[in-house]
Amino acid sequence: MNRILIGAQWGDEGKGKIIDVLARKSNVIVRYQGGNNAGHTVKFGKKKFILHLIPSGILHPGKVCVIGNGVVIDPEAFFQEVKMLEKEGVKVKGRLFVSEQAHMIFPYHRQLDRLKEESHKNKKTIGTTKKGIGPCYADKMARMGIRVGDLKYPQYFKERLAYVIREKNELLTKIYGDAPLSFAKLSKQYLSYRKRLLDFTCNTSLYLYEAARRGKDILFEGAQGTLLDVDHGTYPFVTSSNASVGGAIIGSGVSPTLIDRVIGVVKAYTTRVGEGPFPTEFEGPMMELIRNKGEEFGSTTGRPRRCGWFDAVIVKHAVRINGLGEMAIMKLDVLSGLPEVKIAKAYKMNGKILKNYPHSEYELVRCEPVYETMKGWQEDITGVKKWKDFPVNAKKYLRRLEDLLETPIKIVSVGSKRDQTVFL
Ligand code: IMP
Repeated sequence: MNRILIGAQWGDEGKGKIIDVLARKSNVIVRYQGGNNAGHTVKFGKKKFILHLIPSGILHPGKVCVIGNGVVIDPEAFFQEVKMLEKEGVKVKGRLFVSEQAHMIFPYHRQLDRLKEESHKNKKTIGTTKKGIGPCYADKMARMGIRVGDLKYPQYFKERLAYVIREKNELLTKIYGDAPLSFAKLSKQYLSYRKRLLDFTCNTSLYLYEAARRGKDILFEGAQGTLLDVDHGTYPFVTSSNASVGGAIIGSGVSPTLIDRVIGVVKAYTTRVGEGPFPTEFEGPMMELIRNKGEEFGSTTGRPRRCGWFDAVIVKHAVRINGLGEMAIMKLDVLSGLPEVKIAKAYKMNGKILKNYPHSEYELVRCEPVYETMKGWQEDITGVKKWKDFPVNAKKYLRRLEDLLETPIKIVSVGSKRDQTVFL
């Protein structure tokens, strides 16, 4: 069974926990887009791991992990994560493969990410993670990127870098008034990664094809979420990769005919970190209440996340774009104790009801949610193990989400621990 796991909101849905559950039933786990802007939190035994770049399946002994061609790799971040895992006793060598076609993040990508964000202050800041993700993908599309495999041939690598640095230095000095980069220093730094990085590489697309033919089960671990997808998200307040299902195909070099199931992950409410439209965002004390109860602080940047009611309009959009066949609902326990819970089932714009997600930022910021209000539940649900044990109003809430999304809910998470997971 080859499955793709997708975030169906603005990221941070709790994918790490579901990947951990599904990784046990898989042989190979693949990251296919994004970079170290992601943060997948997994509680493993008594330890808590936050993985930014390496698939969280690495925590399961014997599983093979792949970083596909669609991922952008910051070598420093990669080595740091390998070191952290090895220090914790996780064997990495021989179990982790990196695509030679994956693009590398360079210090100038991080520098440009930061400079661009700062120069836009109070105007059009995206609120990026400043990890250099956007500028690296921009270079990839502009055919100015440098790939992991380019390190195989030092002379070729140097020629590529020299060509890129000429343009970057124009940009840095003339547009941003920053210091120019030293070609010699950067080239030496990246060539010093050569052996260590190339030791992990292989033709990952071919590897995955052959694994699938041998009947191995592959899990595709999505990062970020559908509403952060550069095409299908709240553009321009998005990340620079395809976080929806198409990204898995392109970013791993695997045919869609090999995919059996696409699973969506959502929170029982909504969060987003960074700027951009968010129709169901809370105001006043509800924001603090849910943020603190749900520990809604970014796992990569530590920034407080914005919180709001469940938005069925955006999730229905994600169900359609990704062809989600089933859903996992995370953090339902955070909503316990509220007198009422709300679900946005449509938007209202200039007096008109919109049932479908509008793509334009101009329209989205003018949309008001049309809420359906339901009674809340007061009971603590963190110990619930079976459907029958959920309070009546929590069951009604889940059933209503299923109706609105026209998709079955198969997993409900009621706490951060592995055993706080209810399979329906
Ligand atoms: P970038 O990916 O660093 O360019 O940031 C672009 C937008 O995506 C910003 O709003 C970030 O906060 C958001 N973002 C990037 N990665 C994640 C993630 O893993 N979870 C949630 N939001 C993210």
